[in-house]
Amino acid sequence: MKIGIDKIGFYTPHIFVDMAKLALARNVEPEKFTIGIGQSKMAIAPITQDSVTLAANAALSIIDDEDREKIDLVIFGSESGIDHSKSGAVYVHQLLGLNPNARAVELKQACYGATAGIQMAKGHIALNPDRKALVIGTDIARYGLNTSGESTQGAGAVAMVISANPRVMELENHNVYLTNDIMDFWRPIYSDKAFVDGKFSNEQYILFFNKVWEAYKEKTGLVLSDMEAICFHLPYTKMGLKALRTVLEEAPEDVRERLLAHYEASTTYNRNVGNIYTGSLYLSLLSLLETKEIKEGSRIGMFSYGSGAVGEFFTGILQPNYREYLNISGHKRLFASRQEVSVEEYEEIFEKTLPNDGSDIDLDVSKDPAAICLSGVLDHKRHYVNKLHK
Ligand code: CAA
Repeated sequence: MKIGIDKIGFYTPHIFVDMAKLALARNVEPEKFTIGIGQSKMAIAPITQDSVTLAANAALSIIDDEDREKIDLVIFGSESGIDHSKSGAVYVHQLLGLNPNARAVELKQACYGATAGIQMAKGHIALNPDRKALVIGTDIARYGLNTSGESTQGAGAVAMVISANPRVMELENHNVYLTNDIMDFWRPIYSDKAFVDGKFSNEQYILFFNKVWEAYKEKTGLVLSDMEAICFHLPYTKMGLKALRTVLEEAPEDVRERLLAHYEASTTYNRNVGNIYTGSLYLSLLSLLETKEIKEGSRIGMFSYGSGAVGEFFTGILQPNYREYLNISGHKRLFASRQEVSVEEYEEIFEKTLPNDGSDIDLDVSKDPAAICLSGVLDHKRHYVNKLHK
């Protein structure tokens, strides 16, 4: 039985800051951010968006009534969850009006949570082929103003329906994964900003890629020329390229050119959104499939990396007519409707956070065009509104 991605949708907030302007404000050359890091625009989450609303908005764009009835597993992969106890998946389940007979859980392992979710969903569908699973990678990446990580922030979510007989991509079964306890990036429970050892994180990302790729080749006998493209977790678009370059010499010239051209296509969305942690690899897949016509039946390599660290390499096969099941025009509209804010406005939005002393707050959702917004906190409980259900 084929199991894989049946639908895939994306959401990012309506505002962004231009990276060249951010560079000038930070006294660095714009090319450092636009070429050295490889980012053009950075999505910013207004106070009315959190990891729950981003996830729900991403899922809202893909699910229909049949999915609402058949989804009986909701997995919320996130590094920026909103509660130490209750999972974001339960909120999303309610906001989407899903079948009550469902499991709903949150998975955490830095940027790897959604990949773990997909693999667990595969097992669930293998046992329950007539059901569907909703897996979401959702995050707001925060390092802090004037930090070295600032240029690699972002906000957004990717939602996927995992099912039997998937219409977009069948997931193959020879995954290779690796865990090692390292401190390259982490976020202590008291902090709303990540701590990072930047250079070390880059080295470990590449090391993990090299190790899982070597093990994958050994396990499967497949080589670079068997991959039409490789999508990477993209904390910033230069990162995946650095990893890809370490293996390119294994392939003949035409395969190298193909992988580099497809890598470029796989970074277009991420370049304009920034790091969305758990969703980044899947945003890269969307970018590849929606900006380039990749042949049906092609094998796509996927490298997932979650600092701390867990890495995984796996592959998928594009299904017949898969492009019909993508939301290319919807995502074009989403990008086109975004508004630029100045660096000063971005700094103000960044600093405006929910009270952490337990007090209440009422939020104005009228300026946020998202269907699902955070409307406030009352008695320590977050309240959400779905503007489509008035
Ligand atoms: N023109 C062109 N390129 C320029 C330039 C210019 N004028 N000035 C600098 N550059 C280049 C540099 O040469 C460098 O390129 P290479 O890495 O290819 O040599 C690049 O711009 C970045 O320069 P620096 O290394 O000096 O930048 P930095 O010290 O500000 O740090 C960073 C960059 C380490 C990515 C930092 O932003 C950071 O710590 N980010 C968060 C951590 C992260 O994203 N790590 C990635 C792996 S971990 C992971 O994947 C998990 C996750 O999501 C967090």
